[in-house]
Amino acid sequence: MKITFFGQNTLAIEVSEKHILVDPFITGNPLSKDKVNPLDLKADYILLTHAHFDHVQDAEMIAKNTGAVIVSNYEIAMYYQAKGITVHPMNHGGTWQFDFGKVKYVNAVHTSSFEDGTYGGQPGGFVIEGEHKNIYIAGDTALTMDMKLIAMQTKLDLAILPIGDNFTMGIDDAVIAADFLQCDKILGVHYDTFGFIEINHDEAKRKFFDAGKDLMLLEVSESIEL
Ligand code: NI
Ligand code: MN
Repeated sequence: MKITFFGQNTLAIEVSEKHILVDPFITGNPLSKDKVNPLDLKADYILLTHAHFDHVQDAEMIAKNTGAVIVSNYEIAMYYQAKGITVHPMNHGGTWQFDFGKVKYVNAVHTSSFEDGTYGGQPGGFVIEGEHKNIYIAGDTALTMDMKLIAMQTKLDLAILPIGDNFTMGIDDAVIAADFLQCDKILGVHYDTFGFIEINHDEAKRKFFDAGKDLMLLEVSESIEL
């Protein structure tokens, strides 16, 4: 499983020869818009955690360009289906066996509405089990006890957690989340994109290190291999 970071919560996952794009937000992202052309991105599936613009802005364009299937909660799926895009609706607690692995849509504590005010259902995250590697993409969320449920069912190899604070968990809560998830390998996302979520990288890494955990912060277009 190969995971590439494109800023904010935008991730490209290659697993079982499928391309999965998560929360595509590039054209409006000052950190990635000059470095990445969204029309160059491959996608068989586009996973959307919630409807906020910094997670879905380029989803329609990329879905139409690639023919990718949008996977999200029911309301978000119906929003894109009405635009002629193929969708796979899910909802919280539900699991589906896709051709690249097993996906569960799990709880997040946040909000979810499209920029035009359309209701975007309840926000979520994804647990993906594929190629003998298991990952958790938290999406935008507060620290929540529900994260303990994930560790009860899935041995995680990587947790992808928001760490930028203000709109989501900050670093201190993300360290506790990693404990709840029983996962020592963390990819930090949702930081530095806007003024409200700028973080001190060294301090963030040190806090995870002091808790016996490894926080990775990737440059735009940088990848890790699991
Ligand atoms: Ni959000
Ligand atoms: Mn966000």
